[in-house]
Amino acid sequence: MDVKEAISKRHSVRAYEDRPVPEEKLNRVLEAARLAPSASNMQPRKFVVVRDGKRRQELARAANGQSFVGEAPVVIAAVATEPEATMTCGVPRYAVDVAIAVDHMTLAAVDEGLGTCWIGAFSQEKVRQILNIPDRYRVVALLPLGFPRWEASMKVRKRLEELVCRETFSE
Ligand SMILES: Cc1cc2nc3c(=O)[nH]c(=O)nc-3n(C[C@H](O)[C@H](O)[C@H](O)COP(=O)(O)O)c2cc1C
Repeated sequence: MDVKEAISKRHSVRAYEDRPVPEEKLNRVLEAARLAPSASNMQPRKFVVVRDGKRRQELARAANGQSFVGEAPVVIAAVATEPEATMTCGVPRYAVDVAIAVDHMTLAAVDEGLGTCWIGAFSQEKVRQILNIPDRYRVVALLPLGFPRWEASMKVRKRLEELVCRETFSE
């Protein structure tokens, strides 16, 4: 599958089939995260792969009760290991470094016939506790992963003209 196709096919999957994700597929998704770029190539990120059903249910409860998080056969927690670092441009580095890796995984998942849904609505403290993540680290996203139960609907997006201006900024 080429990149354009993966980008256009990716959508948030909130219903998963009740079948496991083969380890080879999971590893290829994780490899996409490993290859993602990061500021100064520091790679300040870790990924906790959760297959255990009880732990997935706990994560779903910590994610405001979003039950599909627990229904996915795999949940990946993406963790920033240097959450204090700021880039020269003044933007915090950690969210960017982790987000790129998560996005790579969402696209690699499509190529494997798998679906994901970026989860940002969760309790930082509860997820840290469930996964035994030290307080000095920050969980940036949870990513349920599994075979989608149905196909995507249309993407709702702004028009390109609303997003792009040429040469200088304009509202
Ligand atoms: C940073 C971020 C946080 C998100 N958090 C959640 C979430 O907690 N629960 C959820 O169901 N979807 C969540 N989403 C998915 C968005 O709702 C979704 O990407 C958006 O509606 C566009 O739809 P699409 O992904 O199907 O293209 C999140 C997406 C991003 C990028």
